[in-house]
Parts: sequence; structure tokens; C-alpha cells
Amino acid sequence: MSDRPRLLPLLGAPRHGSRYAMTCLYRCGNACDHPVPNTSDNAYFGDVVSAEVSRRGVVRAGAVGALVLGFGGAAVGALAGAAPAAAAPATAAPLAAPAAAGRRPGSGALSFKPIPPNTLDTFVVPNGYDHAVIIRWGDPVVPGAPSFNLRRQTAAAQARQFGYNNDYVGVLPLDKGGKRALLVVNHEYTNENLMFPDFTSHDALSVEQVKAAMAAHGMSVVEIERVGGTGQWRPVTSGRRAYNRRVDALSSKFELTGPVAGSSFVKTAADPKGRTVIGTLNNCAGGTTPWGTVLSGEENFNQYFVGGDGAPEADKPRLARYGISTTTRYPSGNRKWDRAADRFDLTKHPNEANRHGWIVEIDPFDPESRPRKHTALGRFKHEGANVIVAKSGHVVAYMGDDERFDYLYKFVSDKKFMKGNSWVARKHNLTLLESGTLYVAKLGQTSAEEIDGSGKLPSDGAFNGGGRWIKLVSGNRSHVDGMTATEVLAFTRFAGDKVGATKLDRPEEVEPSPLTGKVYVALTNNTNRGVGSNPTPDEANPRTANRHGHILELVEHRGDNTSDAFTWSLPIVCGDPAEPSTYFAGYDKTQVSPISCPDNLLFDRVGNLWISTDGNALGSNDGLFATPIEGPEKGHLKQFLTVPVGAETCGPFLTEDERSLFVAVQHPGEVTGATVGSPASTWPDGDYAKPGVVVTWRLDGGPVGS
Ligand code: FEO
Ligand code: CA
Ligand code: CA
Repeated sequence: MSDRPRLLPLLGAPRHGSRYAMTCLYRCGNACDHPVPNTSDNAYFGDVVSAEVSRRGVVRAGAVGALVLGFGGAAVGALAGAAPAAAAPATAAPLAAPAAAGRRPGSGALSFKPIPPNTLDTFVVPNGYDHAVIIRWGDPVVPGAPSFNLRRQTAAAQARQFGYNNDYVGVLPLDKGGKRALLVVNHEYTNENLMFPDFTSHDALSVEQVKAAMAAHGMSVVEIERVGGTGQWRPVTSGRRAYNRRVDALSSKFELTGPVAGSSFVKTAADPKGRTVIGTLNNCAGGTTPWGTVLSGEENFNQYFVGGDGAPEADKPRLARYGISTTTRYPSGNRKWDRAADRFDLTKHPNEANRHGWIVEIDPFDPESRPRKHTALGRFKHEGANVIVAKSGHVVAYMGDDERFDYLYKFVSDKKFMKGNSWVARKHNLTLLESGTLYVAKLGQTSAEEIDGSGKLPSDGAFNGGGRWIKLVSGNRSHVDGMTATEVLAFTRFAGDKVGATKLDRPEEVEPSPLTGKVYVALTNNTNRGVGSNPTPDEANPRTANRHGHILELVEHRGDNTSDAFTWSLPIVCGDPAEPSTYFAGYDKTQVSPISCPDNLLFDRVGNLWISTDGNALGSNDGLFATPIEGPEKGHLKQFLTVPVGAETCGPFLTEDERSLFVAVQHPGEVTGATVGSPASTWPDGDYAKPGVVVTWRLDGGPVGS
């Protein structure tokens, strides 16, 4: 490879949205080419609950000019849940701050000037802001890690360096002065085409390279420090850095907790007790808990397994429901990790698949702690999990199963959250996700007869309805006919099928507002909705071949997050505002930024909703947007930033002082045909594309966004 990159022209047409074939292959093993795994015929709108209809008709005047890509509309943090306000050093308890009491939702104006949609190979922020890369793939994490060597990548080096394809980002304070913090990041998947200069095929990779890719998965914990008095942060590069660690898919050990731990479904030859799993896979989004840990969702774990054709016949329906091929040894796009580790071969180890697809909890303040996989939260393609402390003190985790026509879940803990940062409180809170009740959502409709797939707003003024949380399992007690509690938790999708859960357009992140307790779901897209024999549009998924996705809002009965009843509505139906099927809470669409494929969500301290996108189907690079979600400005969505060519925007995280906004730039340059030597993006260093985490701050030191 010469020193100068040979920039690749953008090749071919994107396949799904703006998602290139290369992303489809590496991200989810070409999931969209496979049959929809949910073939159940559950009557998902059978139980219509009467709803309060929220009526809105506010239209405001004014317009903004046309933009780079010629869209008609114009335009351009929080604490996910509640990050600890402070934390003492190693293994100490971070301060819990679960509520944002006293702040008025909808009271904060978003003052930044929106940036236009664009296809620039750079990171774009509004005027008055700056940004910097904090850490990128290959940078040292564990003290003493070797410098990155592109041409001599080894598993041992990668296991101490920052992994590939950063997704979730959490920032947990280490001191009360706001000068030090722990950056906790997921590494969802690898793209060997863009990692190894000599890549030709997965078969041609050396076993060492396969192991390096396995080590590039997982999570990183990195101590960071504020730069001067600004909103910028950088890694700490000297001293003990006692918290810095990597967990990966190669050799890290995870403890199973909850009812499935020790059951026959998770026992293997290497782990006859069924309690200790090697590796975590496809860690997508996540959440920072009020007790100072980080949750991570194991999402498209199916794509790492081979040999499903040779698995026991009795296991095959369960494998298939989770998207694992039972008819071929090597499904398309498979990484063939069985070359490096036997456990990925389901012909030999059919239970190994059951040991993935969980919510992982890691305690970044205890570097010696073993991360846990919590089986009480169910097994599916977990996008992530976001926790809120209910009025009763029980903690509630909201979760999406990111698959076309799959479901929305919540978990309510048996135990109550203990306030404070004493050792006793910390020890107690670390057990909260080990036992509780798991529910799945079933949505009713108010305007079913008017839904024709066009996205036309019903005559009652809203896509809306009532809904029920259907109880699946409480502790060791199943509420699903014909399934034991361990079956419900290990094969949760079947439980959702049996109780008639609502099939949604790919539920990605589910985020409760810390101010209002209302819950927001990013339904990213579903181009199969209403196509062929697939389920038809309904009021909660109102568009045929939904390319741009929408936002679902749930209001729990009496504001109680443990309730089993709710009402719902769609405040935002994404796309080009000039397109009639879009909806922005009734706001004047000429003032709204185009948005497509919502993925991750975030609230700032006044309750504005921030939305990152993945797979913009309008031709722009992906980005981050913000909108008030209460009050007269509700729906006034503005684009805050865009990421470079081929990338998606992940893990938005706002520090408690709101002076620093973190995002992960995942899979830059992931354009079909791109290679290391012929990159589609040269971000961030001008040579070849590297995923990395970026911090954005206001030049005048003020809070980001407002
Ligand atoms: Fe990894 Fe659902 O995005
Ligand atoms: Ca309606
Ligand atoms: Ca995602």
C-alpha cells in the first residue's frame, strides 16, 4: 500500500436504505436476505385497549432555505438514565443520581443552527462547536499495549488495544470535579475487508487474524481526562490507569445469572455447569445504570455460528427463530470462527448459541470483576437496555429486539434500588437485574380501519392507541402456556409469539425520559412491512415498505414504569419533511431537518430527545438530531452533526454538565468494494478508515445543544 490512499469512488447502489452490501454482510450476516425469523401468526392487534387520544394541530409559520442535498426542509447531554454524579477510585461505589427532579420538560430551547444533510468525508458540527477524536481502533487501552501495527495484527495486541466498530458509549465520572472519567464502549462487529490490507476472503485469513478479529469485539474501559477547562476529553496516557480493560469474544469469561444459569440449555462440554461463558458477541447499544455499571446488548449473535445444519433436529426450530441457518453449514457472510474455536460449531456444541443473545452488565469501577450475562432479561437480539428507577423503587429496564417484526420488552426488578454510594448499596444494586418479571408489549389501535400503508395521519389526529405489557415470566414462574420459565427466558421470541406480542418495525434503542418517565422507541425501518406475505401496516407501523422508520412514545399508566398498561403514539414519522407520509408532532415541516432510520436515543437535562441514525435512506451521511418532545416546540427536529462517509452515528452520550457530547463513529468507509488500500473514507487520520469515538463541545463552554 502506498502512503497515499487511493480513494474509492462510491460503488454501486446501496441495498437497504443507504446500507451498503458490505455492511449487510458484516453487521448482521445479510439478515435481510434471510427469511423473516418471525413466522408466527399471532393476532397481535386482538386486544385493543381504549386510548386517550392526544390531539395536536399546531402549525407554525416560517421557513428555512434549501440545503446541500436539496431537501425541502431545513435544519440541525443526559444522562442516559442517570449517570453517577461522582465516583471514588477503584472498586468504589459511584454516586447514584437516578432522577432529574425539578426540571421542566420542554423548557430548553435548542439554539444551534442546524447543519445540512451532506456526504462529506468528515465529521460536521454546527458553527460555534468543535470536535476531536478521543480514541480510535488500535489505540492502546491496557497500559503497555503495543502500538498498532496494521500489517502485523495479532490477537495478543488487539486484546489490549481499542476494538473495532465502537457502538455504545458511556462516560462515568471518576471525580467530583469533572476532570476524570471512565469511557466505556462496545465493539459490535469487525469488517475484515477494512481491517487487513491483504484480505481476500475469510478462508484466506490466518487463524491468528481470525483471533485478532475476535479480540476486536467486546468492550473497552478507558480512563479519560478533561483537556484544560474545555468540553474536550482525551485518554489518560500515563500512570496506573487501573480501570483500563478490554473484554472480548476471544477469551474473556462471563458469568451467567438468573433462572437460565445452570440449566440444561446452556451446558456445554467446556462448561458442564452452564455458568461461565467465553466471549461476548455483537455488542450493540447499551445503557448506563443508576448504580454506575454499563449494560451491553448482544445483538446479531446468530451470524457467528456455523454447523446449524448438523445440530440436533429438536434444536433446529429454536435456532431458526433466532436467525441461525439450519440448512447449511456456512451461511452467507459467515466469519468461519470455527477455524479458531470449536465452540462456534453448532454441530459439535449446539448449546453454545444459547449462551449468547443476553444483556451483559460490566462494572467499570471494579476492573477485576467478571462481567455478567443476565438471563432474567430474556434472550433475543438485544439492541440494548436502558434503566429507570420507578416511583416504587423497583428498577425497570426497557429493551428492543432488533429484527423486522420482532418485539418490545421490559423487565421489572424484584428488589428495589438502594440510594447512595455505600458499599452496602452498591452490593445490593449489583443484584437488581438478576431476578424480576419480564414483559412483552402488545399495542392496540384507535384508527385501524384508516391505516392504508401510506402513512396518512388518521382522522383522530394521531397514530395512537392503548397497550398492555404481557407478563411472560416472574422469577422462576412462567406465565406462558406450554413453556417453563427457563424456556421463556432462553427462547423469549417464542414466548412473545405465543402471547401475541406486537410485531414492530425493528425496535432499536428504547429510552425512558428521566424527566417524564415516558418511554421512547426508535423503530428504525422495515422494508418488508406489507410486502409479499409479510404482516401488513398497522397503526403502530403505518407505512408499507417502511424505509425511514419512526419514533414510538409510550406513556405508562399513571406514570408508573412498573404498570402493565400504557398508551402510545407516534410523535415522529421519519423521512424527508417534504414527503407527505412524514410527521413531526404537527410542527411546521418546512423548519424540520430530514431524518431517516433512527437508532440510538438520548435525553438532555431539559428533556429534549436526541436521535442518532443508521442507514440514512435519503442520501445523506448519518447523523445526530435533537428535538423538544414536550411543549410548543415539540417536533422541531434539527440536525446537530453528521459522521463521515459509510459510517453510522452511535452511542450518543452527554455528560452531566452537558458540556461534552460523545458519539461513536461506527464503520466509516464501509462501502461495497472498499479495502484498506482503496478506502471509501480516510477518516479520521487521512489514510484508511478507522472507527473511533468523538467528543463535541461548545467553543464558549456552554451546554451542548441549548
Ligand atoms: Fe446494532 Fe440494532 O443495531
Ligand atoms: Ca388514531
Ligand atoms: Ca443500533
